[in-house]
Amino acid sequence: AERPFVPAVVVGSGYGSAATALRLGEAGVSTLVLEMGRLWDRAGEDGAIFCSMLQPDHRAMWFKARTEAPLSSLLWMDLVNRDIKPFAGVLDRVHHGDMSVYVGRGVGGGSLVNGGMAVTPRRGYFEEVLPRVDAGEMYGRFFPLANRMLGVNTVDRTWFEECESYRYARVSRGHAQRAGLRTTFVPNVYDFGYMRREERGEVPKSALSSEVIYGNNHGKRSLDRSYLPAAVGTGNVTIQSLHRVRSFRQEPDGTYVLTVERIDELGNMLGTTEIGCRWLFLGAGSMGTTELLLRARETGVLPRLDDSVGHGWGTNGNVMLGRALHSWDRTGSVQSGMPALGIDNWDDPVHPVFAEIAPLPAGLELLTSLSLAITRNPERGSFSYDPAADAARLHWSASQGKPSVEAAKALFDPINRANGTVYRHDLFGDSRAFEDRFTYHPLGGCVLGEATDDFGRVRGYRNLYVTDGSLIPGSTGVNPFVTITALAERNIDRVLSEDF
Ligand code: FDA
Repeated sequence: AERPFVPAVVVGSGYGSAATALRLGEAGVSTLVLEMGRLWDRAGEDGAIFCSMLQPDHRAMWFKARTEAPLSSLLWMDLVNRDIKPFAGVLDRVHHGDMSVYVGRGVGGGSLVNGGMAVTPRRGYFEEVLPRVDAGEMYGRFFPLANRMLGVNTVDRTWFEECESYRYARVSRGHAQRAGLRTTFVPNVYDFGYMRREERGEVPKSALSSEVIYGNNHGKRSLDRSYLPAAVGTGNVTIQSLHRVRSFRQEPDGTYVLTVERIDELGNMLGTTEIGCRWLFLGAGSMGTTELLLRARETGVLPRLDDSVGHGWGTNGNVMLGRALHSWDRTGSVQSGMPALGIDNWDDPVHPVFAEIAPLPAGLELLTSLSLAITRNPERGSFSYDPAADAARLHWSASQGKPSVEAAKALFDPINRANGTVYRHDLFGDSRAFEDRFTYHPLGGCVLGEATDDFGRVRGYRNLYVTDGSLIPGSTGVNPFVTITALAERNIDRVLSEDF
């Protein structure tokens, strides 16, 4: 039988993929998007598309028998996680020895599960991280474009100061200010107008009903409500969900052939198909794209791939911590799941930190201030290919998290001192105060200008591109999706004008 052939294939449907697919579609290029997760458009028996964080069920996680939430315990008790039925759920936690990586699964990738924080990085730091990218063009054109397309908005300051749902953020801001630190409002893709109507009881609740990490039923402009419908609306883009790209090869005529596994929501293999294409865009995320390229190089299928494939991976310096507050510092039992404030100490010459003031939306007063600190950790991990498992293995040792923890400590010790507060030691399963064994922000693996040229064209092969977070060498200094989107916009703009 003839195998199907499409001009362009985009692997994955996260930020890099969605922006790329839209621009391909607008340019009239027939494009097929292949996404291993499901399309999240049908309500379950409870009338909701996504399950809530407090009552997680099979929809929560990607083929796990138990949920694996970032906070694993409360008072050292295993109260947080639940046994669930393995299913093609929306959040995955991928384990690699001392590091585990959270990723979104479904049409929309990480946008389905994330906190929506839409931060444009400091220009000076962006220039340092990606010195070969024209920052003038990025800040003049592509960052504004990405912000517009993603539907980024900011909280109304007057409402913020009086609403119940950001009491937790105001309390933490007060604590930071008492230590002489600066906080900043953080834009978000969650519709703050919708959130205000939630608080008034006018619409179904999502951010104010503890929804985040397992999906938001309302209010969040995830990619399936922004870029992806626009891409499909061009008439040239088709998305196939529950299609997992296993591998790809190049034919003598330069076209690519993908081997694609079709699964159902219970994980049953429905079959394997081959799909041919001329232009192949890899947007499977830092972990997914790096694995696909590494497998291709190490199995000898694409031997000219650069040695740097599999290198330059980082956690964006992620570290999470909680502080126990005094009884008068009530954070509130209703906490918006979408963060709106950060402690910005990135100018610190020794320990730059941007710490998001995170919610702990447990539905009851826990007198706890939770933070996700983004630090400037110079450590980098690398991947090797494990032939027995036909999988990529990330090498990141426990000690590599140290710089993240030191930086977080340098920021929060003075906050504790100024407020007479202490760290919580009961949140992460053992007695540690700083959790550096997971990241929400995997970056790198196929770094721009190393594994690819300066526009994401994979070295050694024509018409093969990387479009996602794997291009960024391990750190952005802020939450990364705006940077990933803007970079994808920039790269596809160049590729469409030169390669098509
Ligand atoms: P992304 O990971 O989004 O998409 C890759 C897609 O490819 C996935 O849908 C995956 O299923 C699919 N895929 C992988 N392998 C495949 C294969 N072989 N075949 C087919 N499909 C495949 N960032 C931020 O800026 N602000 C925030 O507030 C947060 N908060 C946050 C919370 C949580 C819980 C998480 C997990 C993450 C965040 N992030 C975040 C991070 C942000 O979501 C992340 O950086 C981006 O989603 C990465 O975008 P990419 O385009 O690189 O890939």
